[in-house]
Amino acid sequence: MMKRMLLVLALALSTASAADNATQAKKPEAASTALYQVQDNNKVDAKTLMGWKTWRALACERCHGAEQEGLVGPPLVESLKTLSKEDFHTVIMNGRAEKGMPPFNTSPMVKDNWEGLYAYLKGRSDGKIAPGRLTAIGQP
Ligand code: HEC
Repeated sequence: MMKRMLLVLALALSTASAADNATQAKKPEAASTALYQVQDNNKVDAKTLMGWKTWRALACERCHGAEQEGLVGPPLVESLKTLSKEDFHTVIMNGRAEKGMPPFNTSPMVKDNWEGLYAYLKGRSDGKIAPGRLTAIGQP
């Protein structure tokens, strides 16, 4: 009799944890809170792709280098290791005119895509995203 009750209890517990696991697996947050998604080093999610396009369109590489390795501007692969998202936003919007970093707050493309740009540079800094051309995940 006792044995049977324990068995029922064990079953109830295991079902409960299976249900927990199922809800965890379904949670979409894991994907949406990740800063960027990358496959094969050169395929990224749509937002990060727009970030890269913004980088290209505004020609940030003129001063920061095509591989973010630094030129007259600092190497962003290093900067992004410590620069917070907030500080990144401030510096690209306001610039640091006296130091040679122009403000980009008049660029609609930067305004719309600065978070993707941050994600892209973070991916470069993390060594997860390759330098050069990117395409969208799911495209050849
Ligand atoms: C005309 C040259 C020039 C261009 C173009 C330029 N930058 Fe800069 N950038 C600089 C310089 C110089 C600094 C360093 C300012 C300083 O010493 O504080 C800088 C600093 C930065 C920083 C802060 C780095 C740190 O370590 O604090 C970020 C982030 C940055 N730039 C991003 C960008 C992005 C993104 C673009 C394109 C939208 C861009 N820059 C375009 C010259 C440039």
